[in-house]
Amino acid sequence: EKGGYEHFMLKEIHEQPKAYRDTMLGRIDKETKKVVLPELKLTEEQIKNIRNIQIVACGTAYNAGLIGRTVIESLARIPVENDVASEYRYRSPIVTPDTLVIVVSQSGETADTLAALREAQANGAHVLAITNVVGSSIARDADDVLVTLAGPEIAVASTKAYSSQLIAFYLFGLYLAQVRGTQTDEQVAHVLAAMESLPEQVEEMLGKADAIKTYAEQIASHKHLFFIGRGQDYAVVQEGSLKLKEISYIHSEAYAAGELKHGTLALIEDGIPVIALVTQESVLEKTVSNIKEVKARGGDVLAITYEEHAVELLKSVDQVFAIPKTLPILSAAISVVALQLLAYYASLALGHDVDKPRNLAKSVTVE
Ligand code: F6R
Repeated sequence: EKGGYEHFMLKEIHEQPKAYRDTMLGRIDKETKKVVLPELKLTEEQIKNIRNIQIVACGTAYNAGLIGRTVIESLARIPVENDVASEYRYRSPIVTPDTLVIVVSQSGETADTLAALREAQANGAHVLAITNVVGSSIARDADDVLVTLAGPEIAVASTKAYSSQLIAFYLFGLYLAQVRGTQTDEQVAHVLAAMESLPEQVEEMLGKADAIKTYAEQIASHKHLFFIGRGQDYAVVQEGSLKLKEISYIHSEAYAAGELKHGTLALIEDGIPVIALVTQESVLEKTVSNIKEVKARGGDVLAITYEEHAVELLKSVDQVFAIPKTLPILSAAISVVALQLLAYYASLALGHDVDKPRNLAKSVTVE
């Protein structure tokens, strides 16, 4: 059942190229080079009228929504807010008939997310669910459903569901851009072509797992560590940090690289591991400055970046891990795989039950 893998989590990490292909299948028109989402009830008229989007979810699905925000804002220029589902309901969210609420849930059964969906509908919002389970409660109750085709996810720690949610956000973001005219046909085609390379690039990434394993074994003895990044990288490291905590029980925090100096830099001391994700070239220099701040306090920095920046970054960090390059808005779909492997191998090195971490359940049906 584990298909030759030691754990479901590792199997599911390796299933991501297939999950990407399946989630894209039939949704990219080969002739017109546009996104087609015939399953949506949302009309073009409604899409043109959207004034704001609220993305609501829990845990890893929430983290996918953080990427969703960067994607939708950059492609479609619609303002997006992210909310944790258990908070959303109780903050009297400001919803109008022109608000689109997107709930994200692998299982489609998370109680907090389902309650948030109902709250949004009661306030008059149109609710789109991004879910992996077609017959789930959330899929049934939502006004629209965009299914991820990751296949069943067994490991408690979500991997392929998260990354397939990213694919769904890319498709939906492009679709919004097409309808609202915020990207040209050429720009849309360019992003789609890059998306179609993602499965192969993830395969290439997976081929380098040994280097991540070696690094994971180095950090496994630490009690605390930090992740830093800017822009989409900041969103990705939040997921990497959650994954690491969840299955290795190593305490970590994900920080916006520029925010460390406003307090948390006080925690950086000799030898503390700091993992810097550096894919967003528009802020690369800024991130390097933040890395230098960390190095000056004794932090032991690993940079995860593109090959072409490796030599330059090695001047400021202790180690570099190179990942395949894609467009800035798509980078999460590759970089997160490195962080999933890191969490996996750290948990393995510590001898924990990777697929069934303590205190956690796959589907959280209590509020
Ligand atoms: C972490 C993890 C959880 C879930 C969260 C929401 O690896 O799996 O954080 O993402 O409980 O679950 P769904 O997506 O089923 O609503």
